Amino acid sequence: MRILFIGDIVGSPGREAVKVLVPRLKKEKAIDIVLANAENAAGGTGLTPKVADELFAYGCDCLTSGDHIWRRQEVLKIIDYPYILRPLNLAPNIPGKGYCVLKKNNFKLAIINLQGRVFMPAIDCPFRTVREIIPMLKKETSVILVDMHAEATSEKVAMGYFLDGLVSAVVGTHTHIQTADEKLLPGGTAYLSELGMCGPYDSVIGQEKSKIIERFLTGMPTRFEVASGDIQLHGAVIEIDETTGKARSIERVQEKLL
Ligand SMILES: [Fe+2]
Ligand SMILES: [Fe+2]
Repeated sequence: MRILFIGDIVGSPGREAVKVLVPRLKKEKAIDIVLANAENAAGGTGLTPKVADELFAYGCDCLTSGDHIWRRQEVLKIIDYPYILRPLNLAPNIPGKGYCVLKKNNFKLAIINLQGRVFMPAIDCPFRTVREIIPMLKKETSVILVDMHAEATSEKVAMGYFLDGLVSAVVGTHTHIQTADEKLLPGGTAYLSELGMCGPYDSVIGQEKSKIIERFLTGMPTRFEVASGDIQLHGAVIEIDETTGKARSIERVQEKLL
């Protein structure tokens, strides 16, 4: 099974990149399933019903998210869609879910969305939370992918080793800058600390540079705007043996929208 996992899609430039590049990558790289983090897909922050429908229409099979998931109130209308996830380790009994089982063609896989706690809002422990649900998901499928939405690389690497041999892949999102540490861990789990962003790279993590620099200079609140130049799609292609659930390979992807 070959999976394309796309990092945080940012605003309309990111959606345009998905529209153009996902169909092309599906053909070129023989992709079976497309997963994407969509926490910034609506105007640079949050997710709306219209934007989610758009991303599914462009070929995304499941949308993960993170700390920005509640930024648009309309997200509550779609948070119970079968293939939209919010972090699993948020407070109990809040809307939505942090994992799902996706069936497509002859493939069946589980996707788990976690959020880190280092330099991020205080939430439940992602390590203990994920450990509790894996045995239940293993009864459904041996293929499990984890989006570890976190700020600190140390927390992401620790999650990779914590889940090595238990899941097929652990990939990071949230910082929007792709890392170059893709590898297969000893137990057969594919790992990459950060998938990167799908959006405008002439920016500070997708936002207009001058507004962000002004905030750093003055400490005053500024209104961020999604940037527009140098649109790229970053992510990874992960090949998994669907019988054993072990990863065969992980390859980073960086495609320009020309
Ligand atoms: Fe993000
Ligand atoms: Fe985030």
